[in-house]
Amino acid sequence: MRTYHQFRAPAGLRRAASTRLMLGLLMILGLLGRLTEAKCKFPAIFNFGDSNSDTGGFWAAFPAQPGPFGMTYFKKPAGRASDGRLVIDFLAEALGLPFLSPYLKSVGPDFRHGANFATLASTVLLPNTSLFVSGISPFSLAIQLNQIKDLKAQALSLRSQLGHNLPHPSIFSSALYTIDIGQNDFTSNLKSIGIVGVKQYLPQVVNQISWTIKELYDIGGRSFMAFNLAPIGCYPAFLEELPHDTWDLDIFGCMVSYNKAVVDYNNMLNESLTQMREMLPNASIVYVDTHSIKLELFQHPKDYGLKYGTRACCGYGGGAHNFNPDVYCGKTKVIINGHMVSSTACEDPQSYVSWDGIHATEAANKLVTQAILNGSFSHPPFPLSKLCDLHPIG
Ligand SMILES: *[C@@H]1O[C@H](CO)[C@@H](O)[C@H](O)[C@H]1NC(C)=O
Ligand SMILES: *[C@@H]1O[C@H](CO)[C@@H](O)[C@H](O)[C@H]1NC(C)=O
Ligand SMILES: *[C@@H]1O[C@H](CO)[C@@H](O)[C@H](O)[C@H]1NC(C)=O
Ligand SMILES: *[C@@H]1O[C@H](CO)[C@@H](O)[C@H](O)[C@H]1NC(C)=O
Repeated sequence: MRTYHQFRAPAGLRRAASTRLMLGLLMILGLLGRLTEAKCKFPAIFNFGDSNSDTGGFWAAFPAQPGPFGMTYFKKPAGRASDGRLVIDFLAEALGLPFLSPYLKSVGPDFRHGANFATLASTVLLPNTSLFVSGISPFSLAIQLNQIKDLKAQALSLRSQLGHNLPHPSIFSSALYTIDIGQNDFTSNLKSIGIVGVKQYLPQVVNQISWTIKELYDIGGRSFMAFNLAPIGCYPAFLEELPHDTWDLDIFGCMVSYNKAVVDYNNMLNESLTQMREMLPNASIVYVDTHSIKLELFQHPKDYGLKYGTRACCGYGGGAHNFNPDVYCGKTKVIINGHMVSSTACEDPQSYVSWDGIHATEAANKLVTQAILNGSFSHPPFPLSKLCDLHPIG
């Protein structure tokens, strides 16, 4: 059985992490004080995001998700863009909470321990276009914020009458708020306008995330974890779809220019959160560097019990990436020469980082969660495994 401590960063990262740990000591003392003297207890999680953390919202609004999504853990499509559980699922498990109900789920939701506002293809900025034109979700971050405000209003006014599945009003101040969004703002126009074009509105994306934290603070939120963006230059889908020269590939087969642009964005987010921390001294705002964790997995999959980094498990076409944008995971298409082809899953998703070319496998999500719980990839360091009584993630 894996433990939280099993994620071993290589020596370089470990040294960097321990320096950060020392520098962050003062801040962590503050955090510890705020998260009660003894053990932290989060009775709920409210999550905002895109497909990386959608637990069924998109597919509740636009049914129904096809197989082989969900094959590993749920044994059927479970509204998640993976073969199994997501990081948000593992976080809920670790905190002893049930999986989060999507806010958009109209049948049988239970919001007593939080809600998930994330939907697949969501952006931070309001979309200019329709789902049916460009595939961008209408539930952008501002809409997700409106939804939690409405949930809180409902919880305050309706709880005594029909409060079976609504959160207790006190939960809005004691919950953990997680924000994992921005990837679609970064990537959806990347092919058409390039890195230079995208960079023009990235400051807006970062500001909007910080502003959302402020708004959530105003409805009572005090503990926030904001995830940075993953190294999309290592994603099988983008390696196939985005223009690049072969000299742009590093020894791991990832595109240097796109990954560098992601790092620039992440630094901007980190900086913006630092300012927000000064503005909201009573809040704990944690920047979670999932980028470094995922880069590690893409570059050294074998060090973590995986086999393939930049190759998708579920895809079509084989080769280095096993990804064909015309035959996305779960799809069957007639391609040019008239014959039908299907995109099916590999037999060993537990050996892959990438599930479908864009999203991570359950195996990778579990490793990412273990690293997050460890805390050394967060700024300020936020070792949930020390601060909280965690449940094992199975
Ligand atoms: C995090 O992982 C590092 C490296 O494996 C380890 O030295 C450290 O003790 C871990 N920290 C916590 C809080 O688990
Ligand atoms: C939306 O459209 C406006 C004007 O056409 C443009 O300036 C803006 O960058 C677009 N936003 C996004 C997120 O693409
Ligand atoms: C985030 O910014 C802080 C300074 O506010 C810095 O100490 C830390 O190393 C940065 N974290 C990452 C992962 O870049
Ligand atoms: C922070 O919380 C303390 C104690 O509840 C309160 O006295 C103080 O006014 C708060 N500070 C801000 C900036 O809200």
